Amino acid sequence: MARGNVRRLGARLVERATQKGLELFNQRRRARIGWLYGALDVPRALQPFHDWIIVRGWCCVEDGAPVTVVLSAAGKQVEALAPSLPRPDVAKLYPHVPGVERSGFEVFVKAFDLPSSRVVFLKCAARAVQNGQTKEATLETVPVVRWRPGRSMLPRFAYQDVWDRSARNFHDARVSVAGYDDDEEWNRTGELFASDLTRATGIGPRDVVLEIGCGAGRVGAKLAPRCQQWIGADVSPNMLRYAREALEGSDNVSFVQLNGVDLHGIRDESIDVVYCTVVFMHLDEWDRYRYVAEAHRVLRPGGRLYVDNFGLSGEMGWKLFLETSQVDAALRPPNVSKSSTGEELQIYAERAGFTDIVIERTPMFVAMVARKPGATTEERRPAS
Ligand SMILES: C[S@@+](CC[C@H](N)C(=O)[O-])C[C@H]1O[C@@H](n2cnc3c(N)ncnc32)[C@H](O)[C@@H]1O
Repeated sequence: MARGNVRRLGARLVERATQKGLELFNQRRRARIGWLYGALDVPRALQPFHDWIIVRGWCCVEDGAPVTVVLSAAGKQVEALAPSLPRPDVAKLYPHVPGVERSGFEVFVKAFDLPSSRVVFLKCAARAVQNGQTKEATLETVPVVRWRPGRSMLPRFAYQDVWDRSARNFHDARVSVAGYDDDEEWNRTGELFASDLTRATGIGPRDVVLEIGCGAGRVGAKLAPRCQQWIGADVSPNMLRYAREALEGSDNVSFVQLNGVDLHGIRDESIDVVYCTVVFMHLDEWDRYRYVAEAHRVLRPGGRLYVDNFGLSGEMGWKLFLETSQVDAALRPPNVSKSSTGEELQIYAERAGFTDIVIERTPMFVAMVARKPGATTEERRPAS
C-alpha cells in the first residue's frame, strides 16, 4: 500500500476512535448537576467555526423555577436567554421535573463576539433564583477551535472558487447568500428588495434587467414576473445552478457565468436596468469599479444602475466594521465583508460616465442609483 494511503487510513482510524470515545463520554455524562438538570447537545467537543457557532441544549430545575442560560467566554458574558423550546426526549428521562417539556434552548453565537485566540473556551452556565437566592451552575465548558487558514485558504480574488465552495449544496448556498435557510424569510427579503428596487429604478414590463451576483435567485424570482427579461449573472456555477432551479418555469429568464471582474458575454447597450445587491462587500475596490464601468457599457442610453454595500458611515455599518477589525487578519475569510462609503460609489459612477446619481444611506447600508445619459427608447417615442 502506498505511504499516502497508509497515512490516510491511520487518520481515519484515529478519527473513528475519537468519535467513539466522544459518544461514550456523552452517554455517560451526568445530566444532573446538584440542583440543576441539563446538558449541551451542541457543541459537545471541539467545534471549528467560521462566523457563527450554534449552542444547543436543555436545562431546568426540580422546583420548576425560571432558569436563564448564560454563555460566556474569557469571563465576558456573550449571551443570556430563557429556555423555551420543546424537548420531549428529555421529558421522557425526567418526567417528574416540572417544565422539562420546554427546557430546550438554541443560541447562535457570533464569532466576532468571542475572543480572537485560536481556541476559545465557551462556558455555558444556568442561573436560577431559589428561596430568594441566585444560584449558578456550569452545564459545560467547551473548547471551540477557530478555523485556521491552511493550504486550502483561497485568496479573496479567487471569486469563483471561494463562492463555489460556499455553495456546495442548496442549504450552504442560501446561508452564504443571506445568513439563513428559511423559506419564509428568503421570500420576504427577496420580495422586499424587489419592490424597493422597482421603486428606485422604475423597472417596468418592457425592461431587460441584469443582476450582477444573482446568487441562488432570491431577488430574481420576485423580479422576473415584473420585467420583459431577467438575466441572472454570477461568478459561481453552483450558485447559478440553484438560481436556475429557483426560476424554473419562467420563460423570460437566462443565466450568464461571469469571470469575476467584468460583463464579458453581455452585448453593449442591450440592458435597461443593471443591479447588484449584497455583492460589493465581497469584492476588491478595483473590481467594484470595473463592474460599474461595465454596467455603463451594457446599459442602453437612459438605462439605470443600482448598487449597494454595507456603509461605513451608518451606526450599524460602523459596528460591523469594528467587529471585523477584532478578527485576526490571518483568520479573515476571503469573502469577509468590506464596507463602502457614499463618496466611493459616487466617484465610481461619475468616472464611469453616469449622471443623476443619488446616494442613499441607512444605518446599515449605502446604495447608489444612477442613470446612463441619453433618452430611453420610451422617451424617444413620439407622444400619440
Ligand atoms: C451575498 S450573495 C448575494 C446574492 C444575491 N444578490 C441576493 O441578494 O440574494 C453574493 C453573490 O455574489 C457572487 N459573487 C461574488 N463575487 C463575485 C464576482 N466577482 N462577480 C460576480 N459575482 C460574484 C457570489 O457568488 C454570490 O452569489
